[in-house]
Amino acid sequence: MRFDLFKTCFFSFTILSFTVVNTFPQVNPVLKDVFKDYFMIGAALNQAQSSGKDMFSVNLVKKHFNTVTPENILKWESVHPEPEKYNFEPADTFVDFGKKNNLFIVGHTLIWHNQTPKRVFEDEQGNPVDRETLLNRMRSHIHTVIGRYKGRINGWDVVNEALDEDGTLRQSQWLEIIGDDYLIKAFEFAHEADPDAELYYNDYSLENEPKRNGAIKLIKKLLAEGVKIDGVGLQGHYKMDWPTTSQLDSTIKAFAALGIKIMITELDVDVLPYDWQNHGADITLNIELQEKLNPYKNGLPDSVQQSLAKRYASLFDVLTNNNETVSRVTFWGVSDKDSWLNNWPVRGRMNYPLLFDRNGEPKPAFEAVIKEADKQNY
Ligand code: GLA
Repeated sequence: MRFDLFKTCFFSFTILSFTVVNTFPQVNPVLKDVFKDYFMIGAALNQAQSSGKDMFSVNLVKKHFNTVTPENILKWESVHPEPEKYNFEPADTFVDFGKKNNLFIVGHTLIWHNQTPKRVFEDEQGNPVDRETLLNRMRSHIHTVIGRYKGRINGWDVVNEALDEDGTLRQSQWLEIIGDDYLIKAFEFAHEADPDAELYYNDYSLENEPKRNGAIKLIKKLLAEGVKIDGVGLQGHYKMDWPTTSQLDSTIKAFAALGIKIMITELDVDVLPYDWQNHGADITLNIELQEKLNPYKNGLPDSVQQSLAKRYASLFDVLTNNNETVSRVTFWGVSDKDSWLNNWPVRGRMNYPLLFDRNGEPKPAFEAVIKEADKQNY
């Protein structure tokens, strides 16, 4: 008798829970499902995450994201630390993780002026190599790295940050040694290595007009040369007051007019004060820690939490309105605890730039973003 009562209660409870979950799916919304008709939703993973060591973040990734980018392990200095030595193990693990979980995998990044060993540009005596030598090194690196993951890595940031703030080409060693066709060559080599992979140009501060115009000119030139370029990545390292929503909207529309995809590739919103001019993400910037630059070290006041939620809502309002051309929105990190913004451009601060807090709990910004996806239903 008692057992029957127990059974009845158990089944009623199960049916009730099932009904609640299915009638009110928004009780526990999942980012990738909520945005499935808009764009892919991604996160950059560090090595502890892609190797499965940090299960706390892995669970969030599996639940909420359908695309991943490796934070560091495919950068030249990590994957190709010495001339004859590639270090593929961490990247293999990352790609296996992505495949096993059915994720769209982004390769970041092939050609960049940072996190590239000096010796790439030098001969054994330390003198700059000539154009042919550097082109050969570039071709060999791109073919080896893309070739290894052919058909498995779906899209590549072929060139990262080739532009200066005024929209002219950055005086990198790639430019100085090869000349301004180095971007054409990089995209050609990438296309040869995996004709089916999507290929992107990725940069920060493209929302500022001079730099955006430079990128448009650059992409037009690549297209005119018959180069395969599928999209542009706006890194999306944003502040509370930059860029304005109209800057973001007009930037997306300007690139869309070129007929290429637009991706937000490294999204985060820095809530901490800054008194330097730089809006960008120049990783060499290093500012000394001062108390006034680290005001929320004991927690984020509710008023700032709410402002961050509003800021995210306004950014996602623009992104969802442009969903026909925005194909992916990737956050640079999973939760606040791992964000690079805890250490850049000032080391040792407490920052709050993402949708999940240090305990992996969704923040008010998460709810605000979800509401933007739902707005068409209201
Ligand atoms: C740039 C790069 C990224 C990463 C971030 C900071 O935006 O594209 O690879 O280094 O800086 O973490």
